Amino acid sequence: MSSKNQPTFGRRDIVQGIGAVAALGPLVARAEGSASRPGSAAGRGKPGRNDTFLKACRGEPVEYTPIWMMRQAGRFLPQYQQVMAKTNFLAAVRSPEVSAEITIQPVDILGVDAAIFFSDITTVAVPMGMDLRYADATGPAFNNPIRSRADVERLVVPDDPAEGLGFVFEGQKICARELANRVPLIGFAGAPFTMSAYMVEGGSSNAFAEFRRLIFSAPDAYATLMDKVARHTAKYLRAQAAAGADALMLFDSNAGLIGPGDFETLNLPYVRQVIAAVKSAGVPIIYFGLGAHGSLAAIRNCGADVIGIDYGMRLDDAVRQLGPGVSVQGNIEPNCLYQPQDEIRRRVGETLRAAKGARGHVFNLGHGVPRHSPVDNVKAMVDAVHELSANRRS
Ligand code: CP3
Repeated sequence: MSSKNQPTFGRRDIVQGIGAVAALGPLVARAEGSASRPGSAAGRGKPGRNDTFLKACRGEPVEYTPIWMMRQAGRFLPQYQQVMAKTNFLAAVRSPEVSAEITIQPVDILGVDAAIFFSDITTVAVPMGMDLRYADATGPAFNNPIRSRADVERLVVPDDPAEGLGFVFEGQKICARELANRVPLIGFAGAPFTMSAYMVEGGSSNAFAEFRRLIFSAPDAYATLMDKVARHTAKYLRAQAAAGADALMLFDSNAGLIGPGDFETLNLPYVRQVIAAVKSAGVPIIYFGLGAHGSLAAIRNCGADVIGIDYGMRLDDAVRQLGPGVSVQGNIEPNCLYQPQDEIRRRVGETLRAAKGARGHVFNLGHGVPRHSPVDNVKAMVDAVHELSANRRS
């Protein structure tokens, strides 16, 4: 698929988007009418439902360690590629049915204990006024990056998150219905710092030099930007919980761009702001700060129920620093999925042992599933986590 054929997505398309969602009327009405969808009070704890992931998030006893994987709904799965051969990334993200189909694929194929909704962190910025495009080589990018105070002032915080993002909530309602009595659904957003990094830089980057320059050269513009993104993100996450997400995750993939002292004063307060505003939704919240190893003592008080640990840190050290107030998620080296299955199994055992003192452990990779991971190896990892953790408890 050539990136020339990939359409853009901006505020102008939002009216069109709402039209597309309205066309889903009957489907959505059925989803709302189901008495005990996962995430509703009636659905929670229902016999036969796999609640292991939610229990581990809350630090409750579990029969085995639950596992899901960041980027499990993605390119390493041939079934995902089959869907994508007929569409493009932004169209898939904007289609509730296609998003739901891709979300459920890894549950069927891999046997993971949670589904993460198929979407992207960057689409959330579109209703704020960002013009999104997708290039196959580099991923999502914005045509109108934020470079000045005036650009920040122009950003909108819509009153209603469904304005422009209704396809997410409709897709999640479909997932909640289709997943009933199977596994919980994770909704997500980028943390304010990671979102702002993409909005200022205009796309993915190694150095994020423009963003780092703005943080330190225009602190007032930076603070206004972070506050606007935080307010928008909180509304967006609350709406996901209302639509059927059973847990919510904040991805702070760029947290390591500034050092620990600056992270704690310039980033973490906005993470706290989002979590404080979302907490009353009553679903577990996961915070994952990639490269934020130096600040775990501060992160443990950010309000999240679960702290995601990346591959760059020893899990037993993380557990010690986090203490008994939170659960941990992580953190096996993602690229070990390229190793032989007996080595994957050995590493799974090591990771399970490292998490031993944790209040609760959600097994995950230290970052996303690598693009060319053999599906059989990914399955072998899921099985190893289930088998080895069940044995350890008996
Ligand atoms: O399976 C899942 O985890 C759910 C879906 C999901 C996607 N993106 C789908 C996706 C999630 C949770 C994200 C989050 C996301 N998006 C993050 C935070 C997590 C992280 O990886 O650090 C970030 C930084 C992005 C931005 C983004 N999206 C980039 C830089 C890229 C291109 C490079 C890459 O990693 O693929 C994307 C594209 C993207 N998002 C794909 C998918 C399945 C690949 C699209 C394709 O080629 O078909």
